[in-house]
Amino acid sequence: MVFGVILAGGIGSRMGNVEKPKQYLSVGGKPIILHTLEKFYVNSKFEKLIVLCPSQWINHTKNLVKKNFNDSSKIVVIEGGSTRNETIMNSIRYIEKEYGLDDDTIIVTHDSVRPFLTYRIIEDNIRYAQEYGACDTVIPASDTIVESAGHEIISNIPDRSIMYQGQTPQSFKAKKLKELYEGLTEEEKEILTDACKIFVIKGQDVHLVEGEVFNIKITYPYDLRVAETLIKGEEK
Ligand code: CTP
Repeated sequence: MVFGVILAGGIGSRMGNVEKPKQYLSVGGKPIILHTLEKFYVNSKFEKLIVLCPSQWINHTKNLVKKNFNDSSKIVVIEGGSTRNETIMNSIRYIEKEYGLDDDTIIVTHDSVRPFLTYRIIEDNIRYAQEYGACDTVIPASDTIVESAGHEIISNIPDRSIMYQGQTPQSFKAKKLKELYEGLTEEEKEILTDACKIFVIKGQDVHLVEGEVFNIKITYPYDLRVAETLIKGEEK
């Protein structure tokens, strides 16, 4: 079984003063999270789409789903966790409780604030996760990456030709991800902001799926302006 996991458990602090988490802000006249969900909803391979959000936003999110999707039973809204990885773990706990976990349970995890992913990216994620167990969506780094361990002088400039920028979805065999996560120490859990890194530090392969430059994450107010422009392009 394949599950879409829409990560909406954050509060969007880098967005600044806004009165609601950024995933509920409107772009193109509609909350960002709905644009994202629509991309998953049209893919019939998903058994269920699991949306995880802060507890006080669950009712609001359920209402959005009910109003905007014909078959709202395909979408379930549950509480996210205190970190992004804990949010992913909540989705796995839900799947385990409702369906059981086996080696073929796949989760396609995606930032709710990346509404421009494509059907092709989702399809590639499902295929790669089934075939290899874990995959990450990336694009080649366009800028040179400069590393500065002390934040003052350059400690390294890696060869750009082997550098990529991570996007989402990130997709996994859910049982494997759970086992690896449970094998981490509390310190490791704290420094791990990226789910793929859980595989990487345990020496497991994560395959690359080609992303798109326009598959941006809405993080800062500037990104909202970019997103408005991109939405206009999609509507043409
Ligand atoms: N996310 C989540 N659960 C958390 C934290 C983040 O599901 N505990 C989700 C966010 O809702 C977002 C995605 O992970 O869709 C990407 O994270 P990011 O852009 O960092 O979102 P926020 O944590 O909301 O933003 P900020 O870091 O600015 O507070």
